[in-house]
Amino acid sequence: MTSSIRIAPSLLAADFARLGAELAAIESAGADWLHLDIMDGHFVPNISFGPALIRALRPLSAMPFDVHLMIAPADPYLAAFAEAGADWISLHPEAGPHLHRSLQTIRALGKKAGVVLNPATPIAHVAEVIDLVDLVLVMSVNPGFGGQSFIRSQIAKISALRRMIDASGHDIRLEVDGGVTMETAPLCIAAGADVLVAGTAVFGRPDYATAIRGLRGC
Ligand code: DX5
Ligand code: ZN
Repeated sequence: MTSSIRIAPSLLAADFARLGAELAAIESAGADWLHLDIMDGHFVPNISFGPALIRALRPLSAMPFDVHLMIAPADPYLAAFAEAGADWISLHPEAGPHLHRSLQTIRALGKKAGVVLNPATPIAHVAEVIDLVDLVLVMSVNPGFGGQSFIRSQIAKISALRRMIDASGHDIRLEVDGGVTMETAPLCIAAGADVLVAGTAVFGRPDYATAIRGLRGC
């Protein structure tokens, strides 16, 4: 059965000593997108990896690369991530003073543009730029680390964004990131999410295909 739900495993939870093999394993297990968490130790209290890693992985996979920027400022690095092989580039409104301009830049680079909302960030940020958005990412944890617990108050935010997106008539993906598990995935899908990021719930399981099918719900 085909599903409209995309599963995007987060590389942050993979075995960093075997990244090429991990990428191949999730792709053959049915992953739809690869989620790449970019952390600068400044916007969030952790450091991950940058464009060089994306460039190295790009030839190994046909999956869309979904790049989640947790860096500030983000604008000086947008071109580098686009050139490295990102397909979707998402950033937080708090990463700089001109979200509208940043989204314009991502689209001008030929990439899909996303806005990421922290648990305390209101959906009004999206309403103001909806014409420039291809994806809205709801953080269901505070960004910076994998393996945290899902913040249930974000379900109402997902529902509100689903209504906003449907009313807009635009083709916009609604993604959830953080603490997505077999238990919380159905809540996200019921609220209207259509892309689920999962780090621990895929890479922490012995059988990636079973984990991905379970999250997708079929
Ligand atoms: C957190 C990252 C997430 C993280 C999710 O800042 O944005 O993508 O890797 O990890 P899990 O699924 O383990 O909560
Ligand atoms: Zn992420």
